[in-house]
Amino acid sequence: MSQGFFPIARKVFAGLGVLYGAAIVLLTIPYIQTHVLFLHAVKIPWFSNYDMPERYGLAPNKTVNLKINTADNESLGAWFVLSDPFYHSLHAIPSQPADHIPTALKSHPTILFFHGNAATRAFSARIQQYTAYSSRLSVNVLAIDYRGFGDSTGTPTEAGLAHDARAAWNWLIANGATADQILIVGHSLGTGVSALLSAELSDEGISPRGVVFLSPFSSISKVLDTYSLLRVFPLMKPLAMIPWIANLVKRAIIHRFETDTLVPRIKGPVLIAHAENDWEIPYSHSEALFNAFLDPLLPAVPSLPPNAVSLTEDEWSAFRIQLATRRELRAEIVSSVELCNFGTVHELTEAGRKVIFVQTLVGGHDYLGVQEGVQDVIGRTFGLFGR
Ligand SMILES: *[C@@H]1O[C@H](CO)[C@@H](O)[C@H](O)[C@H]1NC(C)=O
Ligand SMILES: *[C@@H]1O[C@H](CO)[C@@H](O)[C@H](O)[C@H]1NC(C)=O
Repeated sequence: MSQGFFPIARKVFAGLGVLYGAAIVLLTIPYIQTHVLFLHAVKIPWFSNYDMPERYGLAPNKTVNLKINTADNESLGAWFVLSDPFYHSLHAIPSQPADHIPTALKSHPTILFFHGNAATRAFSARIQQYTAYSSRLSVNVLAIDYRGFGDSTGTPTEAGLAHDARAAWNWLIANGATADQILIVGHSLGTGVSALLSAELSDEGISPRGVVFLSPFSSISKVLDTYSLLRVFPLMKPLAMIPWIANLVKRAIIHRFETDTLVPRIKGPVLIAHAENDWEIPYSHSEALFNAFLDPLLPAVPSLPPNAVSLTEDEWSAFRIQLATRRELRAEIVSSVELCNFGTVHELTEAGRKVIFVQTLVGGHDYLGVQEGVQDVIGRTFGLFGR
């Protein structure tokens, strides 16, 4: 007896539905969720030798392999990369590069770099960033592996990564850096970490040189909303039809990284950058973050009553005028400059500090920070050129 196409297709779809349901349930289990979010077990490049940064393309003894201890007794693997101008001023390859760190921290600004999920500080796209920052931007770079990543001890959690970030910051200060010489740069998941550190420092009245969010997200919950598995399957779409299950799943998120709600606590200059061809995290996340910085400067969005159909003609026009006023004011305080073949730079000019959003045409998710155009906006925004 032969089966027709439709009964088979029905079985296949039912099977996929069961798999999908099982995957969603598994994601609510903390252990699995932690591994899926951080992907810290994916230690690419595998079997790294962190004592030999040269193996990954950095110049001989330009990089020092370190351990940094956190307040809660974890030990973090880290690399300190000397800025090229400083490294070259040594005339010969330094025999004890660690001895030069305090002088390097005093003579050049430093990028404190927080990488994204998965892989380690030795991952090629990250190495390319240390190279570009230390050469094109003439800064030192401190790159850490969070707890549970690379050769660091422990298991990642949101609060744990915030401790790690603070430990790295404290290490720079203890070795002679001043706050205004430290630029915090986060990529992807690292933007959540950067936001936590920046908010904590602002609360304490400490002002870093600024913070850069490369390919950021507004919160993990909103990442779920926009995330497509294998770039084609929108993870949460099927659940949108059953809101109470969608809400249950979202309530089960343990590591929330709510950068959007941290925005009001972040006081210094901010640069947000995102590529239009980022298929992991769409640039709408960066638009949302930029808008969060902008919002307090604009009149509130007028809200419609639930029975909007019953609004009178006059009420409608009042509503439209409020919206138009908001739009005009926004246009006055945000300047947008299109850079030919590169992207658009939006700058918020009336906040008493710079808030910039660079929307680039290319760079994808992992290679945004290696775009020369992005580096140059960072350099100009934070006064790294012509020092
Ligand atoms: C800190 O960690 C070390 C080893 O990683 C351990 O021997 C020590 O007991 C820990 N100290 C505290 C206070 O937890
Ligand atoms: C690089 O530094 C190490 C110590 O950190 C030292 O043993 C080695 O000789 C240095 N290499 C050169 C070429 O000076």
